[in-house]
Amino acid sequence: MLRTRFTDLLGLEFPIMSAPMSNHSGGTLAAAVSLAGGLGTFGGSNSFGPDWFREQIGYIRSQTDRPFGVGFITQLIELSPENFEIALEERPPVMIFSFADPRPWLGRARDAGAVTICQVQSPEAARLAVDAGADVLLAQGNEAGGHTGEMNLLPLLVDLVEQFPAVPALAAGGITSGRAFAAALTAGAQGASLGTAFLATPEAVEVPQPFKERVVMSGGQDTIFTNLYDLLGDDPWPPGIAGRVYRNRLVREWHGRDEEVLTRREELASDAAQARARQDPELASVYMGQGAGQVHAIRPADQVLREICESAENILQRPAWESRDG
Ligand SMILES: Cc1cc2nc3c(=O)[nH]c(=O)nc-3n(C[C@H](O)[C@H](O)[C@H](O)COP(=O)(O)O)c2cc1C
Repeated sequence: MLRTRFTDLLGLEFPIMSAPMSNHSGGTLAAAVSLAGGLGTFGGSNSFGPDWFREQIGYIRSQTDRPFGVGFITQLIELSPENFEIALEERPPVMIFSFADPRPWLGRARDAGAVTICQVQSPEAARLAVDAGADVLLAQGNEAGGHTGEMNLLPLLVDLVEQFPAVPALAAGGITSGRAFAAALTAGAQGASLGTAFLATPEAVEVPQPFKERVVMSGGQDTIFTNLYDLLGDDPWPPGIAGRVYRNRLVREWHGRDEEVLTRREELASDAAQARARQDPELASVYMGQGAGQVHAIRPADQVLREICESAENILQRPAWESRDG
């Protein structure tokens, strides 16, 4: 059993959370992960509306008494505060903030009784989160799927573990195998947040099937860190934050050509939106991380969770450098 400060804090069986993924995770996935003994979460900053948001919380509670969390893209809360206000009313056991300064919001989450997790992309952002009173820091490396920062996981994680020893740190980015998870634990993480690994599960009902298949078919080199889809969208992102996506046809053609993209923004944005509607992964944004290479099949979330934890535990008991077969 992998017992850590994170499992002790929340009474979990496994030190893994499913990442809050806006528009890609809901109550079905969160409930499955929490039921399996991890921390299930879902994204609260999305385009599905407040009724959907409330329903997801109700669904999780109908399935399990175990802890679960909801995550917010911090800079979007003030633009669209409805779901954040609903969360404060509904009092989920855990609330997660990512990307921008959490100080305007985190105190209200704590007052509502939530354990707060701040996903950060730099040591400076971690300092803001600690000053705001975060209970847990989550180091998100550039390997991660979805929006992320420029630092890689290990240097960021080690910085946080050393600078803020009183605050447990989790790892995110590229953890789709027991080996990667064991490495993060060895570097001082108290657990991990997994997005890409849980995209390829039947419980990720918000994710189109062809996108799940792309995750299974892709290797890490098939992903790219790009601002292309942000140039086409309306959401604001802090400096240094961009999206790691599947390197599809649209990205191969337009990545790095920002000025031209801006002159053809309307047309390209409309192409991408229509592609999303017809589930075409060659033009729509398909967010996935470099760990996609270790996702070999679409499998139930509880299997993903157990296998990664059991494998990490085996490796930690008998490190890979001590055995030829790993
Ligand atoms: C499809 C997708 C959507 C995501 N959406 C969000 C989000 O809305 N909020 C957030 O904090 N992180 C989001 N992330 C990032 C995750 O929180 C997490 O850091 C990342 O998935 C971890 O790396 P991995 O994908 O390699 O496991 C998203 C990731 C993916 C793959």
